[in-house]
Order: sequence, then structure tokens, then C-alpha cells
Amino acid sequence: MSALHVVILAAGKSTRMKSARPKVVHELGGLPLIEHVLRTVDRLSAASTTLVIGHGADDVRAALKGRSGLQFVVQSPQLGTGHALRQAEPVLAGRSGTVLLLYADVPLLESNTLTRLVEAHHAAQAAATVLTASLDDPYGYGRIVRDATGQLARIVEERDASGDERAIREINSGIYAFALEPLFAALGGLATDNAQGEYYLTDFVAMYRRRGLRVETLMLDSADELRGINTRVDLADVARLMRTRRNRTLMLSGVTLEDPDTTFIDEDVTIGADTIIGPGVELQGRTAIGERCRVRAGSRLTHATVGDDVTILDRCVIVESTVARGAVVGPYSHIRPQSVVGEGAHVGNFVELKKTTLGPGSKANHLAYLGDATIGAKVNIGAGTITCNYDGVSKHPTIIEDGVFIGSDSQLIAPVVIGKGSYVAAGSSIVKDVPADALAIARGRQENKLEWAARLREQQGPPKKRT
Ligand code: UD1
Ligand code: CA
Repeated sequence: MSALHVVILAAGKSTRMKSARPKVVHELGGLPLIEHVLRTVDRLSAASTTLVIGHGADDVRAALKGRSGLQFVVQSPQLGTGHALRQAEPVLAGRSGTVLLLYADVPLLESNTLTRLVEAHHAAQAAATVLTASLDDPYGYGRIVRDATGQLARIVEERDASGDERAIREINSGIYAFALEPLFAALGGLATDNAQGEYYLTDFVAMYRRRGLRVETLMLDSADELRGINTRVDLADVARLMRTRRNRTLMLSGVTLEDPDTTFIDEDVTIGADTIIGPGVELQGRTAIGERCRVRAGSRLTHATVGDDVTILDRCVIVESTVARGAVVGPYSHIRPQSVVGEGAHVGNFVELKKTTLGPGSKANHLAYLGDATIGAKVNIGAGTITCNYDGVSKHPTIIEDGVFIGSDSQLIAPVVIGKGSYVAAGSSIVKDVPADALAIARGRQENKLEWAARLREQQGPPKKRT
């Protein structure tokens, strides 16, 4: 087997995206667009992978900072796909084998398709092999022009095509296998005599033909995985295809999606069997959900870890936090980063947690703000409890030990420790630590003025008629 060198073009100006950011860092399925093609390449055993970057190069590098084993080359200025590939010449100089060229904006591509392309290329002993497919609506793609014998004659871009050529439905995928040896010498012969004044890589076909080099095609039955992303409309279309594929895989693995059409689950999310996901749910990033859970309508989980047998009721937002086995959250709860909802704990409606641990079996059922708090086991947080964690300058911690009962509408002014097994009376403003097993009452004493209201009404006489 000859060595496989992958080159991915990602330097383009992304004009049609109308974006300040390069196209290949736009998000698709919770990942930067370019990550999809890289994952496909990961499954091949390539001798090298080279990425041609240029427009927004820093953004692209930042999006890929977790990855190793990539060689970057910079194309500047960006003068077209042919010019982009030429930038890889120094990296591949002195090597031999096959170049697999990919465009970074074709994310649905599958690795076994690439393997098939390389195999076909070798079997035909071709100098180049182009991956193609037929599309009902080929608008925007380069068209495959064949000669009278059916041989590939050239590729013509949409903008440069005649009326007849536009009617051709076979499209260029932008994916090619090249024998390394004649490639770079030939690319030196590309010209810019086209509608965009760019060095089109696709012109290599006609040039190879003129030089008597063998160019083959491999035509796929379906063009679905060759969909390129040029505009935000394409991005939405491909996201829909990807979502359908992802949701189907999840359902077949034992997850119930009540309405797959409105369920948005990112590529890296994992979900255990017999979990039921309601309509309009978004599961993002590295979210992991256990078995037998229920996530009700309209909730969003981003980088969340959820144990088995958890219930997340309607319209919750959970970000970078953990919900342990058997807990119940929602409806309308907001769990902000670095929070932990302990095993069997309950977080109810309009409760916000921020950087807070709620221990096993504890309950915060209604209308509370718990920030920078460490709350033990079997604690009851009454309705309307607020941890006053911010003094305008710094954040301060609140510690609530096991078995504490916080009465409704209390303010806990941090830093403060509420000792094990103690009670805080409803409506208290707690400014100092409460010892274990104590009762803290910190509110104005009530005075009842007897008959006061009756006397008032006497003074006022009978109610006046409205005029
Ligand atoms: C290209 C092909 C077209 C094919 C289609 C498939 C050419 C001339 N046309 O058109 O035949 O049907 O892809 O999706 O190749 N890029 C660079 N540097 C540049 C220009 C582009 O690195 O100077 C990169 C882009 O970032 C992108 C890829 O090359 O990842 C393709 O460029 P794009 O402008 O999207 O080409 P298309 O018009 O889609
Ligand atoms: Ca494209």
C-alpha cells in the first residue's frame, strides 16, 4: 500500500456566509464545521494530514487547539482552490504515495467512501480520481463534463458554465485522490481565466487530459454525504440531515424521542437506554445522560452530566453541572456552571443554582437563589430563600450543614455557616453563623394592636358611593 497524505482546504474567504468568522469554525452539531471532516479522516490511517488555512487562520487554529498531529500551512492571499493546494507542496516534497484532497466545508462525508475512492484510484492506476454524484438540483456545484466516450473531459464551475453545461446533473464533490508524483508540477500550469479570476483546482482535469494523464471518476449513488456548505441556508440544511441521522441512531440504541423533528442533540452527547426525551429539548456539547431518565419539553442541557433515573421537568436550563441519580429538577429551574444536584435531591420551579452543591436528598422546591453554597444532605430550603453571596466587590460562600431546615423567605448573608441540624425561622436575615441544633430567628418581632382596624373603620364612617 502506498502512503496516504490527506490535505484539507480551509483557507477560503467564506464570502457567501456573510460572516466575520471563517466558515469552517461555524458550529454544526455542536462542533466546528471542520471537525467533522477531521473525524472522518481520523478513521483512515493517513501518513500525514495537512490543513491549508488562511482567512481567519487564528480562529481556525483556536477551534482545533485540542487536536494533535495536524500540519498547518497558510495560504495568503487566498487565490482559489488550486492555489490553496499548491501551498501544501513544501510539506509533501520528497514524499511519495497518494494525496487525498478534501474541502473542509463538506461535513457529512463518510470514511468508507474515502476508502472506496482511494481503492478505485489505485485499481485504475489513475493519476487522479474525482468523486462525483448526481443531484436533482446541482446549483452551485462544479459540473462533470464528459466527452463522447463518457470519459471525464473537464469540470466547469456554475459561474463559468454554458446553459447546456448547467443542465448537467453530475457534480464535482471537491474530493479527489491524486498520485503525488505529477501533481504539483501540473498545478503550476493552472491559470485564472475564469469568472472569479481564481486558480481553480478543478482545471487540473482538462490539463491532465491534455498531458495524457489518466483521470477517473467514482460516482456515488447518493449525493447526500457530498453536501457542501457555502451559505447559512446550506448550514441549516446539512444540520437537519445530520440531526435526522443522529436521532435515528439514538432511537435505534434504545432512547425514546417523543418528537425527533424538534429534538436537537449534538454529536458528542451520550444517552442511556430507556431514557425518554420530550419535544423541543436541546442536548448540547459533552452532555451525558444516564438510563431511565426523563427530560421534559423545552429543556436545554449544555455540557451536563446526568445520572440514571433522573427526572428533568419542563423548561429547565442546566449548564456545566451534574445531576446525580434519582434527582428531580424543574419545571423552570436554572442550574448554572459548577453545580451539583445530589442523589435524590429536588430542585423545583424558579430555583437558580450557581456554583452550588445541593447534597443527597436535599430539597429546594420553590423560588430560591443558591449561589456559592455548599449544602449538605437532607436539607430543606424553604420557598424564597436567597443566599446573599455578593457584596458588590467579592463573592462569599454559604455553608449549610446536613439536616438543616431553612424557613421560607430567609436571606443568608454570606459568608455564613448554618450548623448541622439547626433551624432558621421563616423570614430571617441571617448575618452570623448559626450553631448546630440551634434555632435562629432574625426578624422584627410582631406586635398585634387589638381593635385597631375596627376603630379606623368607625372614624371613616360608612363607605361613600362612587360618583
Ligand atoms: C468547489 C469546487 C466545485 C465543487 C464544490 C464542492 C473549485 C473551483 N470548485 O466549489 O467544483 O462542486 O467545491 O463542494 O474547486 N479554499 C481555500 N482557498 C481558496 C479558496 C477556497 O482554501 O483560495 C477552500 C475553502 O475554505 C473551502 C474549499 O476550499 O473549504 C472549497 O472552496 P469554495 O469556495 O467553497 O468552493 P465552491 O464554490 O464550493
Ligand atoms: Ca464549497
